[in-house]
Amino acid sequence: MKLTNKTEKIIRDAIRRAKDEKRPLSLLFVCLGNICRSPAADGIMHDMAAKAGMEDKLIIDSCGFYGGHAGDLPDSRMRQAGRQRGYDFTHRSRTIRPTDFENFDLIFGMDDRNLADLHEAAPTLEAEEKIIPMAELAQNHPDVDAVPDPYWSGADGFYHVLNILEDGCGRLLEMIQNS
Ligand code: 4NP
Repeated sequence: MKLTNKTEKIIRDAIRRAKDEKRPLSLLFVCLGNICRSPAADGIMHDMAAKAGMEDKLIIDSCGFYGGHAGDLPDSRMRQAGRQRGYDFTHRSRTIRPTDFENFDLIFGMDDRNLADLHEAAPTLEAEEKIIPMAELAQNHPDVDAVPDPYWSGADGFYHVLNILEDGCGRLLEMIQNS
């Protein structure tokens, strides 16, 4: 998916605002169950931020819309796929809260359903402006228009998700570093 000028401006404005206000930039990754895609994005971003020495400049979290896995660690298949690449995904699943729309600068939805749910849940127009399709950041995956739900897929689906998320998180970190 192509990074649109609108999305790029939203991200750069949020980065600049956090810098001007001398506070960390806060990022929230959102999927359905918060046990596969969004905790992986959360873990990858934490790892990349730590390696870049930017841990104290970022607040990173994730959540989902479906509460059936609340309190759970990520799906064992996602943890296993992550371990293969050196990640340790330890986030505990939680559902989205109304306050998330106030507390986070940028809110990333993984697929069209997550994005539609976010737009519906956003309490204000200002909150809606924070919502970003994660797939837009995956610049090395131009044919990908969503981070697809791997829950019903085989192991390949989990690696595909990690590929897209590493691409997208890498681009996001680059934008933060270069702004
Ligand atoms: P996620 O995947 O949204 O990437 O965490 C899913 C996990 C669980 C379910 C659906 C999607 N579920 O229906 O239980």
